[in-house]
Amino acid sequence: MSSPRFSPQEVTVVFLLGGPGSGKGTQSSNLVRDYGFTHLSAGDLLRAEQIREGSEYGQLIKNYITEGKIVPMEITVALLSNAMADTLSKNPGSTSGGKKARFLIDGFPRKLDQAVFFESTVCPSEFTLFLDCPEEVMETRLLKRGETSGRDDDNAASIRKRFRTFVETSMPVVTEFEKQDKVISVTATGTVEVVYERIQAGFEKRGVQKA
Ligand code: ADP
Ligand code: C5P
Ligand code: MG
Repeated sequence: MSSPRFSPQEVTVVFLLGGPGSGKGTQSSNLVRDYGFTHLSAGDLLRAEQIREGSEYGQLIKNYITEGKIVPMEITVALLSNAMADTLSKNPGSTSGGKKARFLIDGFPRKLDQAVFFESTVCPSEFTLFLDCPEEVMETRLLKRGETSGRDDDNAASIRKRFRTFVETSMPVVTEFEKQDKVISVTATGTVEVVYERIQAGFEKRGVQKA
């Protein structure tokens, strides 16, 4: 079997999972600021590809996102892998003697096949940060976000579908990584600041240093 494109000796990959509206994007900004992560959001990369002129996947991605379904993994993994390569080519020092490059991969892997495929072809993950949030709280946040986000999926019908996909398809990924003792689980209710305190405490317990 061929080896992954990036070695864990040269880059650190942390996955960030949680239901829609659990606060992944919001907390990513804090983590980028304090821990020196490069933030890659699978959803953002898919939305950019959806509107990219010349993309053969635009309509397909739009349909999957509106239905709250998981886009075929080859598309998402290629976008992530290329974004990682782009980042490293712009900061070559990060892999040669300097500090290891850290990637925070937000909203991925949303399905077990994505997890297995990414870890075997792109890079094994160090651990997964899981934001644990009740659906009522996420729904309130998403409906509010929908007032200004312009997203095709921040509406009541899509939100219901996304919750279902999360429970049926994405939670098994968290369960699998828990079995491998690779999850930092954080309660994601309360203010942004309170949630971030819990995240920092979880990182500290695992020995993750600030940048
Ligand atoms: P995700 O990326 O997990 O879907 P976001 O970070 O986009 O979630 O957060 C969803 C919405 O909830 C955003 O409008 C954000 O400003 C808001 N939000 C995030 N965290 C909190 C929090 N702890 N309390 C209240 N609102 C929050
Ligand atoms: O993470 P975010 O909420 O931005 O994701 C929006 C949508 O993008 C998901 O509901 C899903 O349709 C798609 N997506 C995906 N695979 C991922 C991440 C997002 O199919 N790994
Ligand atoms: Mg997000």
